[in-house]
Amino acid sequence: MATQQKSFSSNLGAIMAAVGSAVGLGNIWRFPYTCGKYGGGAFLLVYLCFVFLLGSVLMMSEFVIGRRSQHTPIKAFGTLRPDRKGWMLVGVLGVVTSFFILSQYLVLSGWTTGYVWDAARGTLGSLGTDAAAISDYFKAFSTDAWRPALFLGVFSLLVLAVILGGVQKGIENVSKVLMPVLVLLILVLCVKSLTLPGAGKGVEYLFSADFSKLTGEGVLAALGQALFSLSVGMGVMIVYGSYIPLSDNIFKTAMWITVCDTLIAVLAGLAIFPAVFSCGLDPAGGPGLVFCVLPNVFNLMGGAGTVFAVLFFVLLTVAALTSAISLLEALTATFCEHTHASRTAGALLFFGLTTALGLVFSLSMGSLSHVTVNNLTLFDFVDRLNSIYLPPLCALFAILFFGWVMPEDEVKDELSNHGTLSIGFYPVLRFLARYVVPLALLVVIVSGILS
Ligand code: TRP
Repeated sequence: MATQQKSFSSNLGAIMAAVGSAVGLGNIWRFPYTCGKYGGGAFLLVYLCFVFLLGSVLMMSEFVIGRRSQHTPIKAFGTLRPDRKGWMLVGVLGVVTSFFILSQYLVLSGWTTGYVWDAARGTLGSLGTDAAAISDYFKAFSTDAWRPALFLGVFSLLVLAVILGGVQKGIENVSKVLMPVLVLLILVLCVKSLTLPGAGKGVEYLFSADFSKLTGEGVLAALGQALFSLSVGMGVMIVYGSYIPLSDNIFKTAMWITVCDTLIAVLAGLAIFPAVFSCGLDPAGGPGLVFCVLPNVFNLMGGAGTVFAVLFFVLLTVAALTSAISLLEALTATFCEHTHASRTAGALLFFGLTTALGLVFSLSMGSLSHVTVNNLTLFDFVDRLNSIYLPPLCALFAILFFGWVMPEDEVKDELSNHGTLSIGFYPVLRFLARYVVPLALLVVIVSGILS
């Protein structure tokens, strides 16, 4: 594999782009409320074990598969074991998963974009500190047909524009600007939150370990969150892996991404909980924490609240944008590799398809709520598919391929950059990849089916 068709220009660019993919709504919206629900520090501890021992291993395996093969997921499996073409189905499963995740992700991202607008116009501010009015506003917004559709469209167009810019000029350059902006925004919000009166209780909530709240369900949630947050289990990291420069150290790159992703999730908790506690609001707000509880927090801050509200929803939107970019890139690159269509055609096609499906999911909150699958609205159905079934399944097959099917000398050769790097960690990695990770994934899948 001497030449690389497309690639990031540097290790920093690769890390920024992959951190951009990993850091998303999962960190800033999902992590804080899940952590709050399952015992704060106790959950955090379990999460840290999972993310470093299992998540980073999955990420490395996807990077190795991508960079070694220099192909998008479906062909990657086929190239690495040409005698076992059946494994290409894992790539197909990954692409299908990315497609559904992006379609659902666009809906949530449309909401965050809409909230930036509403915060800036003062609409959120005008709701005052009446908790019921704030939740009603969110309900009305999310079940409406037109407004979420409009913002979903705006957000999708932004994603499309970056993809049309290309791998280096689009994805890499945008990530190099947006990731530092994201860190800055989150730090500003943390400082504000931590200096509010009574902020200490929020810090305590996040870090004090209440093991009695950490049920088996909590442990599974931690594992699910670790996979979701690192964007593994759908082949996106295989595509980004194929863009990692050949001279980069895959182990270090994956570790950096894992550390950054985890830090940002913890910072998000520190930006949210102290402020929520300081205002005497309910920290266990669940998925509605960001849209129903935080506007109240901002309104309690008085005049400056508007500024912080805008900053917060911009932060969420930026985080969502770089994740959505990686999903659309994976779909576009895979399609183009198989059909030889132009990048523009591929990007437009998947932009159109995922936006259209996203609109259907968005409508399923309101006018299409009577359409159900297994008694779930379409949105809730795809949410279940995307969180419980597809990614763990895809991750399971990918790690089995990496640990048991891919020739071991190729794995070592790729991790060591043809023998030029030392890979003392390899025996541990191999043990985790062959036994621990598959077993953990199996538990997640089985318990998901039984739940
Ligand atoms: N990691 C993203 C987040 O934390 C969500 C996500 C899951 C994702 N799988 C992905 C993003 C694949 C991009 C690609 O919000």
